[in-house]
Order: sequence, then structure tokens, then C-alpha cells
Amino acid sequence: MAQENNIQASAPTPDIGPVAEHRHEKLAFPEGFLWGTATAAYQVEGNNEHSDWWQWEKDNPTRVRARSGLAVDHYHRYEEDLNMAAELNTKLYRFSIEWARIMPHENAIDRHELEHYGNMLRACRVRGIKTMVTLHHFSLPQWVAEKGGWEWPGAARAFRDYARIVAAEYAGQVDYWLTINEPMVIVSQGYLTAVWPPAKKNYLSAYAVYRHLIAAHKEAYKAIHEAAAKRGITVLVGAANNLISLSTYNRHRFADRWYSWLMDKVWNHAFIDATAGCHDFLGVNYYFHQRIDPGKKRIMGVIVDIREEQRDMSDIGWEVFPAGLFDALLDFSNYKLPIIITENGIATRNEDRRARYIVSYIKELYHAIAAGIDVRGYCYWSLLDNFEWEKGFSASFGLIEVKQPSLERSFKPSAKVYAQIAKENGIPHELLRFVGHEAKL
Ligand code: BGC
Repeated sequence: MAQENNIQASAPTPDIGPVAEHRHEKLAFPEGFLWGTATAAYQVEGNNEHSDWWQWEKDNPTRVRARSGLAVDHYHRYEEDLNMAAELNTKLYRFSIEWARIMPHENAIDRHELEHYGNMLRACRVRGIKTMVTLHHFSLPQWVAEKGGWEWPGAARAFRDYARIVAAEYAGQVDYWLTINEPMVIVSQGYLTAVWPPAKKNYLSAYAVYRHLIAAHKEAYKAIHEAAAKRGITVLVGAANNLISLSTYNRHRFADRWYSWLMDKVWNHAFIDATAGCHDFLGVNYYFHQRIDPGKKRIMGVIVDIREEQRDMSDIGWEVFPAGLFDALLDFSNYKLPIIITENGIATRNEDRRARYIVSYIKELYHAIAAGIDVRGYCYWSLLDNFEWEKGFSASFGLIEVKQPSLERSFKPSAKVYAQIAKENGIPHELLRFVGHEAKL
């Protein structure tokens, strides 16, 4: 011990060069940046008995881990949930309208349900929360599914009619419209990997669905703008796109670069390119990073299974890779349209991990804005724990925990972290400790 003290006392100070600059200010976001949360009707409302997923769960008990049932009963508890969203200091709420509630049968409109969503919009407004409404978030009316779902050539027209009704009803009350959530996920989950209804593995069907989704977006975009023009107002309409950031294993190998380019084109860009001129802003759902290595034992021949490399991943096996958000945003900035992060979040039961995830992804967002990318808002997925499709209630994405079956709500510790970021409109220095940055002394 004495010897150690001695060494410390007598050792010369090593020359370590200039002292690293260490900023203690917060990472401030532009004024008016919108902090928000997101949900989707089928995942939170409960009892969506006219939707195709409802029928699917009933007919395929082995393909879903749980029935959605009451979900988290957001349908009846939205006031309480919005109070909590306001307590989180969020100023934007993204939610979806369940098409099957508005049109439970062909040519039938349910006025009572139209009023319900009108009440939700009002409930947001009185709390000072802006609204972002998704028209289609994965679940279809069962009557549309019976005609062939998105494969039905009449689907785009039916969607336009629904969009027209809803846009006329709520004109002036919705701040941002999203037509379709993740068109490419609809194609792949329903028709390629076939884990979601109608679980039909067929390339021709997948292509037809893709084309009909393009037509549906364009038609709905037009319908929403026309409804607004009739009232003499303007609206902002987009879609929520699932973006995958990609990296190549061997950047000098042509095959790696080719597959990475192809996946980027098909998954990230094709839908937007095909609907060019019909996006007032770009919605970005960011969860995935993939490494491309055309090799024998790869997923679909080219994607590295990250489990092999023991990477940091969520409870449902999705890689935690914050820098990918920066790359994805940089890529999307080429469209020269404002961007809103319409979803980003992690499935975890470890609150330190969620807090770290939130800080590290939002930090990348900060860098993207600093690099000149026009990002206007961020919605954490999700406000509430919810029904995670085929995974039932096993994945925990929420800032708010919902106990099953009592449905009692409580804030998780990470909610405080997000609330602080939203309140300060930036990442205060002390929160950077979650990403290994020492706290202010
Ligand atoms: C979907 C959500 C889903 C989330 C987490 C997104 O791609 O829009 O419905 O809950 O991913 O899996």
C-alpha cells in the first residue's frame, strides 16, 4: 500500500496530449421538435371482432401465442392513457383507426365508431397533444379479407372510400395522416414468410399485393387532400415505412455490395419511388439492422444471423444498433422531404436496457439533425405494452406497463428518461451516463 502511494506521489505526469473536450451541455434539439409515442388500434383497443386478425386468431390458435381479447382496453381507457402521455411531456400521439370498426360490413358505416375516434382526437387536443392518424395498421375488415384482402383488385378502391369518409369526418382535426403502416411488412409477413394472415407463400400474390398497396396509398393520399381542399385547409399525408439499415461483411466483394444495394432498393425505396409525389413527409419506423454476407449458411442466402455473433439484441432477437438509425436517415434525406420517426423502440423486460436504447437512438437522431437532416419528430414505440401480433403479449415494448389481467397501468422507470428528454427537448448531460458518458461532476 505504502509503496503504491509512493509511486503515485513520485511518478511524473505522462504527456497524454491535449485534454479531450468534454461537453456538459445537453444535446439540444431544434425548437418545436415533436416528442411523441405510438400505438396501433388492433394492438391496444381490444374486441376488434370485425377484423381479419380476430378471425385469424380464432381459426389458428397454434399460430398465435395468445388471443388479443381485450388487448389493453385502450378503447375504453384512452383518456387515462392520454393523461399518462401528457405526463410524459409528449406533444404527439400516433394511433390508428380500425377500418373494420368504421366499416364492419361492405357499404356499412358505423357512426358510433366515427364518433369514438372523434372523441379521441378531441381528447388529444384538450391535452395539447398533436395527432398522427394511421388508416391501416396491418388489420383489415374481415369482409375485405374474404374478398382476397390486399390481393383483391378492388382493395385500393375500398381503401379510398374508407379514407374519404374518415378524412371528411375529421378534416382539420388531424395533424398528420399516415395511409398505410409498413407496406413492405404487409407483403412479406402475409405472402413471403407467411406468418401473418393470409399466410400465403406465393410470389405472384406478393407482387399483386405490393401493386395494390401502391394504388391504395396514392388513392388515399388524393382522397385526404380532396377532403381538406373542400374545407379550404391543407393537410400533411405520408406513410410509415419500415427501414432496414444494411452493412456489408466484405465491402470489397461485389456480391456483398450487390445484395445490399438490392435489398435497400426493394425494401427501403421501391414503395416510395413508386408513389413519388404522394408524400408530404416521410414516416420512418426503424428497428432493423442487417449484415450482408452471401454465404452458404445465411438467412435467405445473404443475411447473417446475429445470434451467431452473440450481438446485443432485444428479447425478440432484434439487434440493438443505434448507428443504423443515422445511416437510414442519411439515406432517406435524399428525398428532400421532412422526416418523422413514426416508430422506434425495444422489446425488453430490462429497464436499464430500454433507457440505454432510448438515449443511444435519440443521440443518433441528434447527430443526424446536426448533419443537416430534416427530422421533425420522434415517436417511441410504444406508449403501452400491447398485443404483439403472433407473439401475443410476450414482447414488452411499452413505456407504460399494463398488468394482465387487471389492465392496471404504471410508468416503467425508462418512461422517466423519455419524459425528461421530451421536457428538455434534448438529452440532458446526466442521461448520457446510459451510453457510457461520465455524468457532470
Ligand atoms: C409495427 C408494430 C409492431 C412493432 C414491433 C412495427 O413494425 O408497426 O405494429 O408492434 O413493429 O414489432
